[in-house]
Amino acid sequence: MSQRTVSVRGKRFPVIRDYRLGGKVYQAIEKLSGQRPRYKVYDKHAGPDGDFRVLQIVPNSPRVREYVKVLQRVSRHNSNFPGIIDYHVTAEDVMLVVNWIPGQTLAHHLKNSKTKKGLGISVFEAIRLYHGFAHGLTQLSHRKNIVHGDLKPENLLICREPNRLVAIDFGSAWTVEQSVKREEGDGLSGAYAAPELLSGDRSVDFRSDQFSATVIYYEMLTLERPYDGIGGRAALPQFKSWRDKFIPPSKKSPYARYLNRSVWREVDHVVQTGLKLDYRERFQNRREWLDALEVIKFEISRTSRLCDENLFIVRAMRWINQLFPERKQSR
Ligand SMILES: Nc1ncnc2c1ncn2[C@@H]1O[C@H](COP(=O)(O)OP(=O)(O)O)[C@@H](O)[C@H]1O
Ligand SMILES: [Mg+2]
Repeated sequence: MSQRTVSVRGKRFPVIRDYRLGGKVYQAIEKLSGQRPRYKVYDKHAGPDGDFRVLQIVPNSPRVREYVKVLQRVSRHNSNFPGIIDYHVTAEDVMLVVNWIPGQTLAHHLKNSKTKKGLGISVFEAIRLYHGFAHGLTQLSHRKNIVHGDLKPENLLICREPNRLVAIDFGSAWTVEQSVKREEGDGLSGAYAAPELLSGDRSVDFRSDQFSATVIYYEMLTLERPYDGIGGRAALPQFKSWRDKFIPPSKKSPYARYLNRSVWREVDHVVQTGLKLDYRERFQNRREWLDALEVIKFEISRTSRLCDENLFIVRAMRWINQLFPERKQSR
């Protein structure tokens, strides 16, 4: 039997299978995850020409249902998460349909940057993207202490119009018991996971996402992971000697010269605090974290204003020199 296909904007895609949810048909055209039932689907009912979506199937539980409701509410006003278009609850599963976000993962950009010597975006843009994302993230934890639980560059997409970071792959935190030890060793997650998540010592809260997000910030700024590359695993007993290997981003960044020293001082403070291996030493609530990030923004605009003033003085001198050329020659 020949493979069924669907044509979307002049391109043909093989249809893996149809999902019928609440009177709508979603045609699965690509399996996205090797580990979980997650598909890129075509929704012919979306807009005038139909559109792509992502269909995720998650085991049903009260926690998952609560999480989905919160995410649906938050994503309506928050462009750092894919909007939840639709969800259907069956006895076994929650079937979740979310927006398809066009863009490459941050992991892809970071990988490229190692060869091309840069993220492909300026350090200012990297800081702006990250700060926007941190704001979005705190809106999530603000509601019923919901966390993402698996923040890493593979789970962040860099999108355009407006330029922003979008977190995908929700599900790690809500499909496992919150206090259960997470399996370390699935790819690079170990470097991004907060120590308390790796050890299973305590239930997860906003401070764990803060740690992972800060590892990502460090990597965006330096193109390397903190604690000599091992990130949160520095807290594990076998990596004890790595704990002293922390180098602040200002001392590691290839972009060091682009930011004023006073900006780096604030960046170092945010990064050092966010990367404390003991969660009690990180920013304790979203306000503290956001305030510290705000100081960075303030320092950037203050110092660039100073640069503008310097530029003005240079232009004024040039103009005076042009007015009095003989003065210039007589020097
Ligand atoms: N909402 C989405 N929009 C665009 N791409 C997505 C979306 N969700 C997932 N993807 C793509 O699918 C890949 C795998 O998805 P993810 O949810 O991270 O599953 P897993 O971690 O199990 O591989 C992502 O790296 C991304 O390229
Ligand atoms: Mg993922």
